[in-house]
Amino acid sequence: MSEAVDCDRWGRTVPKDVYPHPVLCDVFVRVVVTVPEEPQMHFSAKEDLALAASASARATAASSANDDLLELARDLVLRMVLFICGMVVNIHSDYILRNLREPGETGYKIPRGGLFEYVSGANFFGEIVEWSGFAIAGWSIPGAAFAVFTFLVLLSRAQQHHQWYIEKFEDYPKSRKIVIPFTY
Ligand SMILES: NC(=O)c1ccc[n+]([C@@H]2O[C@H](COP(=O)([O-])OP(=O)(O)OC[C@H]3O[C@@H](n4cnc5c(N)ncnc54)[C@H](OP(=O)(O)O)[C@@H]3O)[C@@H](O)[C@H]2O)c1
Repeated sequence: MSEAVDCDRWGRTVPKDVYPHPVLCDVFVRVVVTVPEEPQMHFSAKEDLALAASASARATAASSANDDLLELARDLVLRMVLFICGMVVNIHSDYILRNLREPGETGYKIPRGGLFEYVSGANFFGEIVEWSGFAIAGWSIPGAAFAVFTFLVLLSRAQQHHQWYIEKFEDYPKSRKIVIPFTY
C-alpha cells in the first residue's frame, strides 16, 4: 500500500510513492484528481418531460430489439431440431452398419438396434430427415430441391437394400419397413 500524504493546497491526498514531488503532486491534483463540478443545468418541466419520454422510447426500443433477437434464436433452434435429429439418426445408423463385421470379416449381416428395428434403410431415413429439416430451416427453393433429390436417390437405394435383405436372409424381420418407420 502506498503511504498517503497531504500534498496540495486544497487539502487533497495522493499516494506519496506515485507523486512524491510537491509540484508534481500539485499538477496531478489539478489535472487528474480534481473532478470538475457538474455544470448546473436548468430544465423546464416541458424539457424534463421530453427527456423522460425520449429515454423511455430508447429503453422500449432496446427491449424490443432484445425480444426480436430471442425470438429469432428460438425460431432457429426449433427449425434446426429436425436437421439435428436426422443427423443423429444418420450417424448412429452408419455406426451400427460399420460395426456389423468383426475385424477381418467379409459378407453381410442383418443390422440390429436403433431405427434398424423399424426400417431397412435407417441411415437413409436419417439423411432424408436431415435434409428435409435443412430445407425447412432455410425455406428456399435450392434447399427444397436438394431435399427432394436426396429423398428420391435414397428411397431407391433403400428399396434395393430392403429387397436384397429379404432375398438373402430367410429370418429377415417381416415387420421391418423399407425407409419410413411404420409407413413404407
Ligand atoms: N445425400 C445423398 O444423396 C447420399 C447418397 C448416398 C449415400 N449417402 C449417405 O452416405 C452414407 C453411407 O452410404 P452407403 O450407401 O455407403 O451406405 P451402405 O451401403 O449402407 O454402407 C455403409 C457401410 O456399412 C457397410 N454395410 C452396409 N450394410 C451392411 C451389412 N448388412 N453388413 C455388413 N456391413 C454392411 C458397408 O460395407 P460395403 O461397402 O462392403 O457394402 C459400408 O462400409 C449414408 O449415411 C447415406 O445416407 C447420401
